[in-house]
Amino acid sequence: MTPILETERIVLRPMAASDAPAIQRHFNNFDIIKYMGAAVPWPYPDNGAEDFLKNYGLPLMAEKRGHLWAITVKPDDECVGCVEFRLFDHKDGHRGFWLAEHLWGQGLMSEALEAVNDFVFEDLKIKEFIELNAKSNGASRRLKEHSGGTYLGDIAGDYKSDDLKSEKWRITAAGWKKLKAADE
Ligand SMILES: CC(C)(COP(=O)(O)OP(=O)(O)OC[C@H]1O[C@@H](n2cnc3c(N)ncnc32)[C@H](O)[C@@H]1OP(=O)(O)O)[C@@H](O)C(=O)NCCC(=O)NCCS
Repeated sequence: MTPILETERIVLRPMAASDAPAIQRHFNNFDIIKYMGAAVPWPYPDNGAEDFLKNYGLPLMAEKRGHLWAITVKPDDECVGCVEFRLFDHKDGHRGFWLAEHLWGQGLMSEALEAVNDFVFEDLKIKEFIELNAKSNGASRRLKEHSGGTYLGDIAGDYKSDDLKSEKWRITAAGWKKLKAADE
């Protein structure tokens, strides 16, 4: 079961079918979609969020193949972003995330990923996972560093941004533990 994760400013809760209108509102933005895998359609269709939840996101959780959290900023319950953690190998890596553009630059995704790292490494006892980002996506790269990740090199990219390169990172329980200990 996908648990509720809470931080100082955020509640991460399992995504629900009722989140479709909020996802449609915030995700339908080329500055977000250009950094998603090329399978995400652009222009984003009117039923894009509904289709994503019905045919991918909700089955992912129901079939226990992964976790999909809606990011909500206290005290609101509106879904303003997403963190996905896949429990199986995937060409786009194990973790993906996005945040509504009006909330960028406040450290919110760093805070969300801290909670997800604790859950993945301490509760699920996963030892390591792979994460990717478009070479041109400096914010996403920084978030890998904030997770204590190790840069493994570049692989071929496939993004709407036309970025031809993807950075591959390994995030490990040991690296996360070390980073947290250094911050304390
Ligand atoms: C990536 C994203 C989730 C970041 O969310 P956010 O809440 O703004 O991130 P944070 O504020 O926690 O911090 C991100 C870090 O990136 C840094 N950063 C932001 N923009 C940057 C840029 N263009 N180049 C380099 N670093 C950048 C920030 O300074 C911060 O680092 P710091 O804590 O050392 O100062 C958000 O920009 C987004 O949704 N982008 C589009 C979707 C996307 O790229 N998803 C990831 C796909 S792999």
